[in-house]
Amino acid sequence: MINTAPLPREDVRNVQRDARAFGKSRIAFRDLQFCIPGRTAAAPARVILTPTSGVVECGEMVAIMGPSGCGKTTLLDMVAAKKTTAYDGEVFFNGLPRDDLFARLTSYVPQQDLLPAHITVYEAVKFVHELRVEANMSPDEREAAVMDVLRLLGLDSIRDELIGDASVRGISGGQKRRVTLARGLAGGSQIVFADEPTSGLSSTDAETVVRAMAVASARTGVAFVTVIHQPRAEVMDLYHSLILLTSSPGRVVYNGAYEAAAAYFAAAGSPVPSRGNPADFFLDVITPGAHGERSNFFAQRYVELQRDGVEKRVEASLALPKLTPLDVLRETAVIQGLVASDVHATRIAASFTKQLKVLMERTLTITKRNRVGLRLRFGVSIAQGVVVGLAFFDIASKPVVSQISFFFMLLQMGTIANMSVMPELIGTRLLLKNEEADALYSTGASIVVQSSVNNTLAVTGNFITCLLMFAFSQLSWSKFGTLYAWSLLNFLSVTNYLRCIAAIAPNAALSVQTAMPGLLFFILFNNFFVNKATAPVFIKWAIYISPMAWAIEQIVCGIYGFNADLVAFYGYDASTSRTVTALGVLLGEMIFFQCLEVILLKRSNSIVR
Ligand SMILES: Nc1ncnc2c1ncn2[C@@H]1O[C@H](COP(=O)(O)OP(=O)(O)OP(=O)(O)O)[C@@H](O)[C@H]1O
Ligand SMILES: [Mg+2]
Repeated sequence: MINTAPLPREDVRNVQRDARAFGKSRIAFRDLQFCIPGRTAAAPARVILTPTSGVVECGEMVAIMGPSGCGKTTLLDMVAAKKTTAYDGEVFFNGLPRDDLFARLTSYVPQQDLLPAHITVYEAVKFVHELRVEANMSPDEREAAVMDVLRLLGLDSIRDELIGDASVRGISGGQKRRVTLARGLAGGSQIVFADEPTSGLSSTDAETVVRAMAVASARTGVAFVTVIHQPRAEVMDLYHSLILLTSSPGRVVYNGAYEAAAAYFAAAGSPVPSRGNPADFFLDVITPGAHGERSNFFAQRYVELQRDGVEKRVEASLALPKLTPLDVLRETAVIQGLVASDVHATRIAASFTKQLKVLMERTLTITKRNRVGLRLRFGVSIAQGVVVGLAFFDIASKPVVSQISFFFMLLQMGTIANMSVMPELIGTRLLLKNEEADALYSTGASIVVQSSVNNTLAVTGNFITCLLMFAFSQLSWSKFGTLYAWSLLNFLSVTNYLRCIAAIAPNAALSVQTAMPGLLFFILFNNFFVNKATAPVFIKWAIYISPMAWAIEQIVCGIYGFNADLVAFYGYDASTSRTVTALGVLLGEMIFFQCLEVILLKRSNSIVR
């Protein structure tokens, strides 16, 4: 049975700020606005959000609310520096424009929880702590620090439960949300941005999540800026401030203390009904098209009554002493009992080797725990080896040309087995992109770790297939070394090619189609069925590109090089210099595709906001 961690129903207003509270940051934003430029005269520019200003104080709970499409996510993304499309306006972090360290000092909780299924709650949070909190902490100290965060969010009693997904039994949706929030806090974020952290949860779970945020903000001084839908009155009471927007176009209708909102609406002739939920009522009043709505009236009223006050608060916030991100990082380190000079002003906190270590640990844990995946992978390798091996049983006693067909098939098996690498990579791509955007590690580090683990598994599986096929063939084992070495080089070149496709393919289903033309090219111009002696001149160049063509030539020359007629028949070259060239081409292609993967992964399938 999965534990549900009950949170103490403590009165959030009475929660004391902890002596080790590290949150000390504020945000001010001025005239943030977003417009989609018109492409044609018939499709003019569309204003999504008119200029919006505001402040977020240290330890504040801010709710952004409004009807669908009014620009809530847009506003959150602009403040959080996650909007990838151009927008206007300024955002200041502790009085200074945001810089590279902003991503390290804040966290963004997206609408869906992106967590690997096979790690535990504790491991998920410790991962972020290890990467973001640079310090020579002992393992015990680190564990204590992570446990503090888990306790804060009521997750300590489920620390060893797996996160889980549709196929792995794990924790509940509300608990996952809290794990995602815990990851934000564990990394020492000063501000946590969350887009609809309660959507899709039961109202009890939603309350638990918001209560957890409220307690965390009160204790740590971390501010939470959240877009929220249909909160219960008790949930809304946990917020200090409310930014209420209306739609068509997105405009502010209220920006101030939540406590004062009911009086503000009442003074304008729209009192909250005695037993009504204030949040629902406000939304009804400001949603265009709703019965009795007064959105235009309240948008105008904001301009007349509130806007100047908000702008003054922005100016006042900017007039306070400024705090550089490095100051904040160093002060946090000192509060946490660490050494300030251990903190470096790099976008990613951890060194490259630390990134490799932490990522490697997680990847190995996930791989080991994914038993079904491992069994399937090696089961298929064995089955392939046996079935294809039987088809070529005792090929040793058959003519040389049949033996070459066998070598060709052996290379082919590697290519086919490789196809499974793409869905795997695409499955983890979103998590990877998000963790990179949160400045946890670099693309380079994740590729080194992923490719070494995936390639080790893939190569092992392929080795088993090759070994079994070879055993059935009854060829002399003295030939195996040459055959396997070239098959391995071909295998790795093709894997890296497929990794590139996995980086650009929009999804797993389309990856196979996208990879096909290249794969067919490699397989067709294999230097055996289509070889240099028979290929038309205009297509001969293709044979010089296909890794399979080089591998098959080298295998045949390595094993039957003494047979000059055979070598000439296929247009091969059995010289040593040719072997060196083949080695250069195959290694070159491997490295080329590996580098291309880094570039493609960085450039394509980026999250557009
Ligand atoms: N980068 C963009 N390019 C084009 N349109 C965009 C972009 N970003 C936002 N929009 C449009 O702006 C409008 C507001 O989007 P936004 O996601 O901010 O709304 P929202 O208030 O969060 O709505 P919901 O409650 O449904 O989540 C939508 O019509 C959306 O399609
Ligand atoms: Mg939204």
